Amino acid sequence: MSQLYDLSEISQQNGKGGKPCWLIIKGNVYDVTKFLDDHPGGGELLLEYGGKDATKAFNKAGHSSDAEKDLKQYKIGEVNPTGSAAAPIQTQPKSNANASSPTSTDLPAASPMEAKKSSGFCCC
Ligand code: HEM
Repeated sequence: MSQLYDLSEISQQNGKGGKPCWLIIKGNVYDVTKFLDDHPGGGELLLEYGGKDATKAFNKAGHSSDAEKDLKQYKIGEVNPTGSAAAPIQTQPKSNANASSPTSTDLPAASPMEAKKSSGFCCC
């Protein structure tokens, strides 16, 4: 099975400051650090996509089938599909058992008489 890398981990390998240069192409992760000087399209182009998904750019460049085959030798793994994109685990809501929140039971119960008073009706 392939090594899986989280997007957060891949994005750090952007080729800057002496860091390795990794690219994502079609869900696979490639370490092109040693290929920068040899890439016919130039190292700058690869660095531009360091730590990012370069699938569209790779396809747009109209690479030959030889280039597609070259990809294999730089592959180091695949993008972890669940990785950092996963939703954070929901925490239980805090218990309000001890909190003094006003509830309807705190309100004084209106008696039938009071109800009559408040409606403006007087029997005397
Ligand atoms: C591991 C990834 C890559 C490999 C192995 C690779 C390999 C190659 C190879 C072998 C060529 C020579 C022409 C051919 O055979 O198609 C080439 C040309 C080219 N590549 Fe890449 N490439 C990679 C990534 C990229 C990316 C991400 C881009 C764009 C951002 C890119 C842009 C180009 C361009 C524009 C050329 C044409 C250069 C010219 O003809 O002047 N390549 N690449």
